[in-house]
Amino acid sequence: MKKILFFVISSIIILNFSLSETQLNKKQSSVEKRINKILSKMTLEEKVGQLVQFSLSGSGKEYKEKKEKYLTLIRKGLIGSFINVKGVKERNSIQKVAVAESRLGIPLIFGIDVIHGYRTIFPIPLAQAASWDLELVKKSARIAAIEATAGGIDWTFAPMIDITRDPRWGRIAEGYGEDPFLASRMSFAAVKGFQDEDISSPTSLVACLKHYVAYGAAIGGRDYNSVDISEKTLREIYLPPYEAGIKAGALTVMSAFNSINGIPASANSFTLRKILKNEFSFKGFVVSDWESIKETINHGFSKNEKDAALKGLIAGVDMDMVSGVYLKYLPKLVREGKIDEKILNDSVKRVLRVKILKGLFENPYKNEKRADEILTNEKRNFERKVAQRSIILLKNKNNVLPLKKFPEKIAVIGPLAKDKKTPLGCWSLYGRSEDVISAFEGIKNKVKNRAKIFYSKGSEIRGFIKGGIEEAVKISKNADIVLLFLGDNISGEDASLAHLKLPEPQLKLIREISKNTRSPIITIIIDGRPRPINSIIKYSDAVLLAWYLGIESGNAIADVLFGDYNPSAKLPVTIPRAIGQIPIYYNHENTGRPLIKNKPGNFSRYRDESNEPLFPFGFGLSYTKFSYSNLKISPEKAHSNGKIKVSVKVKNTGNYDGEEIVELYIRDLVSSIIRPVKELKGFRKIKLKAGESRVISFILDEKLLGFHYKGNNITVEPGKFKVWVGPNSQEGLEGEFTILE
Ligand code: GLC
Repeated sequence: MKKILFFVISSIIILNFSLSETQLNKKQSSVEKRINKILSKMTLEEKVGQLVQFSLSGSGKEYKEKKEKYLTLIRKGLIGSFINVKGVKERNSIQKVAVAESRLGIPLIFGIDVIHGYRTIFPIPLAQAASWDLELVKKSARIAAIEATAGGIDWTFAPMIDITRDPRWGRIAEGYGEDPFLASRMSFAAVKGFQDEDISSPTSLVACLKHYVAYGAAIGGRDYNSVDISEKTLREIYLPPYEAGIKAGALTVMSAFNSINGIPASANSFTLRKILKNEFSFKGFVVSDWESIKETINHGFSKNEKDAALKGLIAGVDMDMVSGVYLKYLPKLVREGKIDEKILNDSVKRVLRVKILKGLFENPYKNEKRADEILTNEKRNFERKVAQRSIILLKNKNNVLPLKKFPEKIAVIGPLAKDKKTPLGCWSLYGRSEDVISAFEGIKNKVKNRAKIFYSKGSEIRGFIKGGIEEAVKISKNADIVLLFLGDNISGEDASLAHLKLPEPQLKLIREISKNTRSPIITIIIDGRPRPINSIIKYSDAVLLAWYLGIESGNAIADVLFGDYNPSAKLPVTIPRAIGQIPIYYNHENTGRPLIKNKPGNFSRYRDESNEPLFPFGFGLSYTKFSYSNLKISPEKAHSNGKIKVSVKVKNTGNYDGEEIVELYIRDLVSSIIRPVKELKGFRKIKLKAGESRVISFILDEKLLGFHYKGNNITVEPGKFKVWVGPNSQEGLEGEFTILE
């Protein structure tokens, strides 16, 4: 009897599975049928129209004239998408012209940059990466999508998933750091958050993986600059977050401004067609970055706009963001036989596919009555939670933190202390500074009237204030604790810096305060990038890296300072000692002459600086302590298709409950392509009460142990591996295992 029951149940499961698979295939084929049906009715000009995106923003007479010009084009079916249209009513009014007054009534898709929040502005992605918390990242993207769709938007140009190893590049703020393993999981989480499980749902926001590809490897950290990297590095470091985002179902990708090995990313058929559309089986569409197709002329790659349009489409850029060269030249190029209409059709089908999957044909208009879903208290409270979990404790001498509740006299000092704009970060189009809780306000909210707060700006971010430092020193002398808010507001696009130390006015401010007060100095850095903060560390008793934390910035900082949240974040990027070390990252090769301390000889090193970072990737302190013991590896020998289980016991040996990010790294000791000295291959964020311990285990398989040998396939070679499990990329219990022939 049991056997029959088992058979019946298992066949129902299989039937179910195959049914859903059949349903999926049926759905896909019905979408394809719809696409072909629409395509068959389209004129050449209408096909090109789907590949055209223009920007419509601003107000007044100029806006009205621009809008009228575009409405005329829409009626002719010559525009497929808009960027920057603000307001759900405005969006619906424009959509109505496309649906009701054009020949085929194909709906427009409306996009805008919702990078880390729409009106509830979250910490910048680099700060969210510091939480190493995928659920948090997914939920913050979900909230951004709920708000953005309530604002009339279908499509966001996010997540930005560019790996970078260069903090001179201002856009380091927008990505998830230097490591492909961490960034890939963040990419997957963000896409799932934006697009939700049902892409056609009213609150689903089409995601856009950008900037494809290797934009973060710009020479000199200078934005938009050339990228020259090997295919190995491209596949090992810069491509994995895109593969992950596509696995998560991302429906669009944005081609980048930079060139890659001499070919512009927005005219690069190797990266766009061979890798993205073929190897990764990407079925959505590629939109160019702002005029990046036309900019292939500046690169010296295209003769003129017509040539740029030809090369962009042939290479695989499906939609032209605002340059207009597709609209102007593609019909002619097809008629001249320079572009096979099949290539054009493929791009049009991709755009139609996304519009159909998004449900725009059935629901072209957005509900205009969802404004009450924006910036709710619940969303604000969740933002505070994400902000708390993004703050990294870098130093805590003599456990000066958390502050007792409360010091009698608190000095709040620094150019970022009352700043309500900078915490919004570099992409917050709908963010408002009046929504932000500044650091000063956060301290006041926490302390209320239970301590005296003295304030002095001390200096500007990049300038001196007459008498400012003297005033700051004076109030510091009489305070029991000094809270110093330093940092920078140059961040994001076209924000590259050649000097990374904090500006001299701020360094002088902390030096003078340190010289003249015995009170502990707690420095909170509000910034969008890692910097060589050597002197901040030297003069401070404790240091928090608070990034740009969004609207609840001040409250989250106060929660950490006064122990209402025990900091758990860890670095997603390396902090250099000196700008001269850049690029500096943890997953480097060993070289033929690795530095061996106190040994004579010539080594790969600087004569005037250590090779070591100021703080390593994965580093972050807590108010409690965690110990690691009992590292177990089983089996210690396995075939390449086998699985290795690595487990470790983690104990909270301190006095505070806390969260620990347990990190697992490997090293393939000998391989036909040199492997890094360490590679992150697993992490787990766990909560442990004071005194509590837990065994954490990881499974290593060929996907994690292998590397890209040729093309996109992963190879695991036999030989010895080392493995570490610990609190960051420099510390941990070490073991080893062997992969057999
Ligand atoms: C910008 C940025 C890109 C953004 C686009 C639209 O230049 O490079 O990240 O999505 O233009 O605003």
